[in-house]
Amino acid sequence: MELLKNEFIKFIKERKSIRSFIYKKIDKETILSVIECGRWAPSGNNSQPWRVCIVIHPTVKRMLSELTKYGGIIEDAYVNLVIFLDLERGYDRVKDIQAIGAFMQNLLLGVHAIENIGAVWIGEILSKKDEVNEIFKFPIDKFELMGVIAIGLADEAREKAHEKERERRPLDEFIDWY
Ligand SMILES: Cc1cc2nc3c(=O)[nH]c(=O)nc-3n(C[C@H](O)[C@H](O)[C@H](O)COP(=O)(O)O)c2cc1C
Repeated sequence: MELLKNEFIKFIKERKSIRSFIYKKIDKETILSVIECGRWAPSGNNSQPWRVCIVIHPTVKRMLSELTKYGGIIEDAYVNLVIFLDLERGYDRVKDIQAIGAFMQNLLLGVHAIENIGAVWIGEILSKKDEVNEIFKFPIDKFELMGVIAIGLADEAREKAHEKERERRPLDEFIDWY
């Protein structure tokens, strides 16, 4: 059990954003297995306030890509998961958004569990969130965009260049003991 726990901590630390992709199909079962990880995320009152649009079609990818400076990543990714907060399921704004954060992290960890596949959380697109709703014909009073998870076959060679950007603050910089 101890060994398993250590492996899990290593797994969490090894997860990294992947922004360079090689075009290759990811099958439906694999995509669903990632979303299944999100499904088990915690949420306040177990409200599960998430809604996901799975975008594979090039036209829809193009429409999304035009709404962010990270559009190149969205276009290169085989699939993009567009994550909305379902406002009718939510009950407390801070807790609802925290639940979506847990959901999205679970998706990233789910992707990390699959060999050679990588993902990145695109938050920048939130500056055009109403336009994203329009693509899916989602009313803005019912669904609020929380982010996009771009997923694809990792181009590890091109990723190496970004290693340095992953440094983390040391623990003693942000903890206090009482
Ligand atoms: C809320 C949020 C928004 C983010 N938005 C973007 C984004 O728009 N574009 C991008 O390239 N990465 C984005 N990221 C990824 C972060 O840049 C990345 O997680 C961070 O630099 C740490 O690197 P790592 O994920 O490789 O550990 C976002 C991450 C989070 C949690």
